[in-house]
Amino acid sequence: MPKLGEEFPNFEADTTKGKINFHDWIGDQWAILFSHPADYTPVCTTEMASMAQNADEFAKRNTKLIGLSVDSVESHKGWEKDVLSHCQCGGDGLPYPIIADDKRELAVKFGMLDPDELDAEGMPLTARAVFIVGPDKKLKLSILYPATTGRSVAEILRVLDSLQLTAKHKVATPANWKVGDRVMVTPKVKKEDEATLFPKGVETKQVPSGKSYLRFTAQPDL
Ligand code: BEZ
Repeated sequence: MPKLGEEFPNFEADTTKGKINFHDWIGDQWAILFSHPADYTPVCTTEMASMAQNADEFAKRNTKLIGLSVDSVESHKGWEKDVLSHCQCGGDGLPYPIIADDKRELAVKFGMLDPDELDAEGMPLTARAVFIVGPDKKLKLSILYPATTGRSVAEILRVLDSLQLTAKHKVATPANWKVGDRVMVTPKVKKEDEATLFPKGVETKQVPSGKSYLRFTAQPDL
């Protein structure tokens, strides 16, 4: 299982858009690798469609998308047509590649298998993993959903905004934050550096402990 903050292991794979070397494919962009249990299944179809409908939003954030399941390239290519029809996206293929991990090598290596979801041969399927990898190839975030819970693409975009903001500024995003909301000054920032780092001002909220850790500031530019 890749660890947060460590380099996401490189690999080569067959995809719907040809063979890739993962690190070369990322280049100097951000990347989201997301797995789904199986082609031709209902929840997966809605997720793939939603990712396709939001492809421009990810591109605006300099972020590439790549799917993965334990199906073959041939199966992915057949299913793509159903997904495109469902999202009424047009075009010949999805705007992102899908990895064919039919030997389950990547699924095992990256801890993506769901032991509760088995195919017709009794082999485990992939769960709904999300790995966000930075331009430095380090793992910035991972989330794992079971097969029965479809992901929120709005939430994936929200966490991506948070990751990209906090990569640039010494801030953290509070619960339920969205772009434009106030953010929090990180604990390591010294009081004497607040004015230089946050020219728009810092509000320190008083709490019963008397400790000055609840510090809010306007969101710096993304
Ligand atoms: C689905 O995508 O609908 C699904 C796939 C595997 C198990 C449960 C649901």
